[in-house]
Amino acid sequence: MSYEKDAPQVTIDLMNKTDLPEVLDIERESFPSPWTEGMFTRELNSTHSVCLAARIYVEDKSVIVAYIIFWLVADEVHLHNLAVKKEYRRQGLAFNLMEAMVEIAGKNEITDQTLEVRKSNTEAIKLYEKCGFVVKGIRPLYYTDTHEDALIMWADIKK
Ligand SMILES: CC(C)(COP(=O)(O)OP(=O)(O)OC[C@H]1O[C@@H](n2cnc3c(N)ncnc32)[C@H](O)[C@@H]1OP(=O)(O)O)[C@@H](O)C(=O)NCCC(=O)NCCS
Repeated sequence: MSYEKDAPQVTIDLMNKTDLPEVLDIERESFPSPWTEGMFTRELNSTHSVCLAARIYVEDKSVIVAYIIFWLVADEVHLHNLAVKKEYRRQGLAFNLMEAMVEIAGKNEITDQTLEVRKSNTEAIKLYEKCGFVVKGIRPLYYTDTHEDALIMWADIKK
């Protein structure tokens, strides 16, 4: 499976185990409580989890610039992780990964998508709103590291 997106040099395809060192670097620069290697490995081995990586090619060498992890559960897709390498942000990569998620979900007859996001994460909230998500609920003090609320967001998947 491979998606050639708008920027010709960016390819979106399945993440694999050898990608983890680069993925972990992005994870650590992106989150206050980053996922561990074990958590990513569990996702890679899970049958209901889809892990995609966005790569650019520099002189025949591929570099991971972003990734997304989501679960396909019954008729819902649950977004679990999404991050873009700092120097590649604001170039549409996260939006492209969200589109790839919708494409895969649509092929699996999925009708709804959901996610949780920190209330203070305005960049991510704006991204999700651009993708059609709306806030449908709050989980008070959901994040134990910062005692922050989570917004629960939902969106339909249009046929
Ligand atoms: C949130 C994040 C994934 C966005 O990635 P990105 O590739 O920079 O986002 P895109 O370029 O695809 O932006 C798509 C839309 O998101 C919104 N957006 C993204 N970054 C934004 C920012 N810094 N300020 C305001 N809006 C922003 C905008 O609506 C943007 O559309 P526009 O460019 O037409 O204005 C990235 O900032 C990131 O990795 N953050 C750290 C990890 C994180 O918070 N992940 C989400 C966990 S829930």
